[in-house]
Amino acid sequence: MMYSIAQEENLFSKAKLFLNKEISIEDVNDLRVIIEYADYMYYVKDNPKLADVEYDTLFAKLKKIEEQYPQIISPDSPTQRVAKGLNTAFENVAHIVPMLSLENSYNAEDLLDWDRKCRELSEKEHLTYCVEPKFDGASISLIYENNLMTRGATRGNGIEGDDISTNLKQIRSIPLKAPLDNFGIQQIEIRGEVMMTKKRFEEYNEKLIAKGENILANARNAASGSLRIKNPTEVAERNLDAFLYHVSFVLPQGANTSKIPTTHLAMLQALDTLGFKTSLAHTKTFDTIEDVIQYVQTFEEQRDTLPYEIDGMVIKVNDLAIQEQVGQTSHHPRWAIAYKFKARQGTSKLLHIEFQVGRTGSVTPVAKIEPVSVGGVTISSISLFNEDIIKEKDLRVGDTILVERAGDVIPNIVKPYPEMRNGNEQIIVFPRLCPVCQTPLTKPDTEAVWRCDNIECEAQIIERIIHFASKNAMDIRGLGEGLVKKFYEQGVLKHIDDIYHLPYDTLKNLEGFGEKSMQNLQKAIEQSKTQALHRLLFGLGIRYVGETTAKALARSASHLSELYTKTIEDLKNIEDVGEKVAASIVTFFANKNNRKLIENLEACGVQLSNTQKVDALQSGALIGKTFLFTGTLSVKRSEAEALAEAKGGTILGSVSTKLNYLVVGTDAGSKLEKAKKLGTITILTEDEFYKLIN
Ligand code: IVH
Repeated sequence: MMYSIAQEENLFSKAKLFLNKEISIEDVNDLRVIIEYADYMYYVKDNPKLADVEYDTLFAKLKKIEEQYPQIISPDSPTQRVAKGLNTAFENVAHIVPMLSLENSYNAEDLLDWDRKCRELSEKEHLTYCVEPKFDGASISLIYENNLMTRGATRGNGIEGDDISTNLKQIRSIPLKAPLDNFGIQQIEIRGEVMMTKKRFEEYNEKLIAKGENILANARNAASGSLRIKNPTEVAERNLDAFLYHVSFVLPQGANTSKIPTTHLAMLQALDTLGFKTSLAHTKTFDTIEDVIQYVQTFEEQRDTLPYEIDGMVIKVNDLAIQEQVGQTSHHPRWAIAYKFKARQGTSKLLHIEFQVGRTGSVTPVAKIEPVSVGGVTISSISLFNEDIIKEKDLRVGDTILVERAGDVIPNIVKPYPEMRNGNEQIIVFPRLCPVCQTPLTKPDTEAVWRCDNIECEAQIIERIIHFASKNAMDIRGLGEGLVKKFYEQGVLKHIDDIYHLPYDTLKNLEGFGEKSMQNLQKAIEQSKTQALHRLLFGLGIRYVGETTAKALARSASHLSELYTKTIEDLKNIEDVGEKVAASIVTFFANKNNRKLIENLEACGVQLSNTQKVDALQSGALIGKTFLFTGTLSVKRSEAEALAEAKGGTILGSVSTKLNYLVVGTDAGSKLEKAKKLGTITILTEDEFYKLIN
């Protein structure tokens, strides 16, 4: 993107010329190049080349001529960033490669351990690491195809996010086009972080104050809150930035992949040359973990001198092929780790403790404290997790306490100041009876959490219903905490299945609940009946079954009832399901009340069959087909595997009669020989594989 001095001079002498003359259609290309370059120098390189008024004049001229000749408007013209109208709903889109999170580390020891593991897994004595800032903003993913930005999305749940292309086009450091073909790349998925500088954040809050509106707590919230704004013009006004730091997927243009970078640093350098904003200026590689440690510790001292909020550093194995070898878990890559800076701290007073009963009966002590602002966020309530933590810290009501935001988000009581006690402080007594239903609490010796085992406990029922209706479960919009509690008190919502028998006629008369909201609620409840099976499974609130496990469970069945008879051993074959989770699932389905609940739900019309799986089977997709990849592929092996899995395929570890397809890259060896010998396996080239999945 960077131009030579001569090219730059040529460009700007043209710009000066255009400022004072009538633009003709032949000038359009030059005009676009000038504006793109001015955007790049201003937003990516922080080095403005045109005065604001010059830029505005040129932009207006381009707009005018495009209005005159609408046929010349191309989607990558700088004028096309400016959105017309409002975003209605954001479409849910799947990431090409799931957006994993990062594992955290907090000290040198953690990093030494991580280094040891990486070297073990890669079977290398020495590794080169790339170290860069960990941006504290809102993560996004961008897709470019044939040099054009085709999509931008939020992280969402990591698998799927919201398509926020229009909003992201308002961020001028994100190029609308980039000559990726220079690197032999046809399609690329890039991850990064949308940020607001500290300075812009302050200015933005000042504006809000001037308008009499509520200010935002911190720059991260300002950035993440901007992504899903319905009005793109407002997004543009927030002056956001985007730093890109990870390439998750590359589709080469052809068989020759020699121009595609093979290290993380080279990839960042490529992104930089292509016109993207990266953190190259603060990115360094090191050959020993000791040097890495030194760098991250020194950087922590300079943290506040950066114009952006960063909450740590990220250390990555530099060589991409070795990254592949080191691998990943379902949650985070093993080849990268975050080194978190020390959290921000403040002092406050412990006012009292509230004991809250969760949906599984767990009783959590929550400290109510005098509101205190820690690094820009006001904290008034802090979960203490369990009784042991209160004892370990010797916390007392009335204590002066040190509060921090661990990971800069979740608040935490670091310690009380016993030297500041005046004798009026009170010891905290953990209840032995459920604070809601008075049932004696229980706690196995091996666990830390006290529980109320009365599954009819009002608090648990309410929490279970709230969970069932929540966004990531059955997603019944409108049926939130407030309404669930209200309906419960009215006696119309005592069990999960009552959701589907609400007496709408009487509800109409509920105070503050109009005809319209009732209709909306009724509609949302009706729609929830056909939610995907994994949402229902998650919504049932089976202990240890989170969203990921619910999805894996759903994939293993065509109907919920198929899970009733699965044994612990059967379940352990499912991805991410270990002994504890499997046992919990078996116990759940063995319970008569749970089976009755499921029966009742079915009787109300809630769908228990896995329609996605059934549809896929009917449309002849890859469900039930097994794959194995061998040799060097043009994409990362994990990416190719993810593509096969996304279509319902299963990845096997070795060649056997169970294998349907062997996908062969270059330099394939013994696996190919074995597959040929067996004779039952379809052997595919990489291209044939892409054709098959499409
Ligand atoms: S790499 C597959 N690099 O931090 C690994 N992430 O707390 C992809 N983040 O989910 C992530 N700065 O949203 C990476 N330099 C950086 C980052 C970074 C910020 C975010 C990212 C990640 C989160 C984990």
